[in-house]
Amino acid sequence: MITALVPGSFDPPTKGHLDVVERCAALFDEVIVSVVHNPSKSPLFTADERIALLEECTRGWDNVRVASFQGLLVDFAREVGATTMVKGLRAVTDFEFEIQMSQMNRHLSGDVVSLFVATKPEYAYLSSSLVKEVARLGGSVDALVPEPVAAALKERLV
Ligand code: PNS
Repeated sequence: MITALVPGSFDPPTKGHLDVVERCAALFDEVIVSVVHNPSKSPLFTADERIALLEECTRGWDNVRVASFQGLLVDFAREVGATTMVKGLRAVTDFEFEIQMSQMNRHLSGDVVSLFVATKPEYAYLSSSLVKEVARLGGSVDALVPEPVAAALKERLV
């Protein structure tokens, strides 16, 4: 039984994130979308709101659940009995930071294996930060985020 974590900020979740989750749902027995809750940051959506959005968007996949964590990801992984963590890669620029994080996680816990999924090319330019900027400035994000997220952005940014 392999449980894979898909960790992230998900502020908000995008279609790029869900593409990675969908890939993982097909590959692993169980997938835990792991939402970081960092009290020193002020995200647009609270951890509970991000969890609710992700739960709504992943309802179709029986082996996917959503949870939040505080502190080190490797500690959360140990708590839930997972050693596999998966991140999406959009471009080489992502790789530089992602490999640094994966090496640090490996240093912190020798059990942990980081895997990377290449995102769909059509989502290669997509990021939560740009989605928020476009939404804030009145642009349409309908093609970039799932419907519940688009609705939540409209409500939050009016
Ligand atoms: O969506 P993001 O912002 O790329 O996700 C980054 C995340 C949440 C995976 C990363 O910041 C993280 O693992 N945070 C938990 C703190 C931690 O474990 N830090 C040390 C590992 S580098």
